[in-house]
Amino acid sequence: MADTPTSSEATLSESMPRHVAIIMDGNGRWAAERGLPRALGHRSGVEAVRRTVKAATDLKIPYLTLYSFSSENWSRPKDEIDDLMGLMKRFIRRDLADLHQNNVRVKVIGERETIEPEMRALIEETCELTRENTGLTLIIAFNYGARGEITRAARWLAEEVAAGRLAPGDITPERLSGALDTGGLPDPDVLIRTSGECRISNFLLWQCAYTEFVFLDAYWPDFGHEMLVEAISQYKARERRFGGLPCLSTA
Ligand code: IPE
Ligand code: IPE
Ligand code: MG
Repeated sequence: MADTPTSSEATLSESMPRHVAIIMDGNGRWAAERGLPRALGHRSGVEAVRRTVKAATDLKIPYLTLYSFSSENWSRPKDEIDDLMGLMKRFIRRDLADLHQNNVRVKVIGERETIEPEMRALIEETCELTRENTGLTLIIAFNYGARGEITRAARWLAEEVAAGRLAPGDITPERLSGALDTGGLPDPDVLIRTSGECRISNFLLWQCAYTEFVFLDAYWPDFGHEMLVEAISQYKARERRFGGLPCLSTA
């Protein structure tokens, strides 16, 4: 079950976020500005992923979610999809040992049934190898779309009801949270999106009910420790109310 704060917990978010989620956007525009093919933007984006995982570890952030490929990204040209799939596989193959050595626990969220067997095996191997690690939890959203995720959870709950294992009244927000791909993980405290776009693009729609959003103009390949610190400092200056009253209110 995701731990959603209640309205009685309105608080200044002065402390470090427990869970940072990032929409890594702008690889294509980063490349275009340099007269490079989009594929090189994606390749540089992988370097930014490495820097960000290290930064999150150094900053002792417990959970980091990275949006790597959306269910809507299948509408891109085949060449670009092939590049992105190749990069994902190479990232897993090259970085898995390091991640494991650095005590990183890797989780992958998104539709798993329909992805090609080699990718699926790599993902399963990665999650299995790092399952017991106790450092950073790195959640990779791959072939992920929030509407699809919520639909799969609703379908599973409906099947449980049809089979007589649950009553309709057992379906609570907590039970639905638990049935999502992110079941058991805390909701993001802060969602960062690079590239200047101010939209959520089907990412963590349920989980971001009370998340603070930080939009940065920089393109993803330029992201790293400093920008993460900058986004966190914006987050820390926010007052989180969860539907309650401002902290300083004496009423
Ligand atoms: C993000 O960069 C990477 C993915 C969506 C996979 P984009 O490829 O969306 O880059 P822009 O938005 O076209 O610049
Ligand atoms: C969101 O970026 C998906 C990822 C970063 C993986 P997009 O570039 O696909 O989003 P839109 O199309 O601009 O909304
Ligand atoms: Mg984009």
